[in-house]
Amino acid sequence: MRVIEVKDYQQMSNRAAEYIIQKVVQNPSIKLGLATGGTPMGTYKSLIEDHQKNGTSYQKVTTFNLDEYIGLSGNNKNSYRYFMNDQLFNHIDINKAKTNIPSGIAADFQEECHRYENLIARHGGVDLQILGIGANGHIGFNEPGTSFRSTTHIVNLADSTIQANARFFSRIEEVPTQAITMGISTILKSKEILLLVSGEQKKDALFRLLNGEINESFPASVLKNHPYVTIIADKVAIADLKVNC
Ligand code: PGA
Repeated sequence: MRVIEVKDYQQMSNRAAEYIIQKVVQNPSIKLGLATGGTPMGTYKSLIEDHQKNGTSYQKVTTFNLDEYIGLSGNNKNSYRYFMNDQLFNHIDINKAKTNIPSGIAADFQEECHRYENLIARHGGVDLQILGIGANGHIGFNEPGTSFRSTTHIVNLADSTIQANARFFSRIEEVPTQAITMGISTILKSKEILLLVSGEQKKDALFRLLNGEINESFPASVLKNHPYVTIIADKVAIADLKVNC
C-alpha cells in the first residue's frame, strides 16, 4: 500500500480528484467505484469544479456505488442515490443510465444482490474503487466479522455505524438498520483502490490498518492483500504513526 500524506481535508480532496481525473482522461470509458459519506464529498466538489473549468468529460464513464440503505428510494434525501445525484452526477456530463447503485427498495433483495454482483462482472469489473473507512474498520457497509469471501449482500448495520451516520438524519430513529453492500471480495476484485482517510476520528482505524494483522474482525485489513492500493490521508489521521506497509 502506498500512503500519501496531505495537510488537511481540502488537500486530500484535491489530491484525490486529481488522481481520478488523470485516470478518466487516460481511459474515458473507465469503470469507477464510488463511495458516499462525508469523506468523498470534497473530492466530488473538486471533480465538479474541474469539469466546469477544464471540461473533463464523464460521458463514457460507468459508475458502481458501494452500497445503499434498505428501505430508502432514490427520491429520499438520505438515500445514497440521492446523495450521488446531488453531490456529483447532476453537475457533470455523466449519463445517469451508466450510474449504478444497488436498489434500496427492490422487491427481492437476494435477487438484487445477484443482479448487482453480476452487473459489475458483466462490465469487466471496477477499474478504480474509491473507499472511505469506518472508525470500526468497515469498508462499504462490510462491518467487522464479514467474510472476506463475501459478495454483494444484505447487512445489519453496527450500532456504531448507525450512530456515526445519524448526523445526516434529523433523528437517529430514522437511520435505516440494514443496507445492501458490495461484499469484500467484490471490492477486492477492483483493479485499483483509492482509500481516503481524514480526521481525528479515523486515526485509530488507520493505525490498525497500517500496523495490525489481516483479520475479518477489521474488514479494511483485507486491503493489504490487494496489489494496488493508494491511501491519501491527512496529517490528523496519520498523526505520528509508525507506518509498516
Ligand atoms: P464517512 O464514512 O466518510 O462519513 O466518515 C466513511 C465510511 O463509513 O466508510
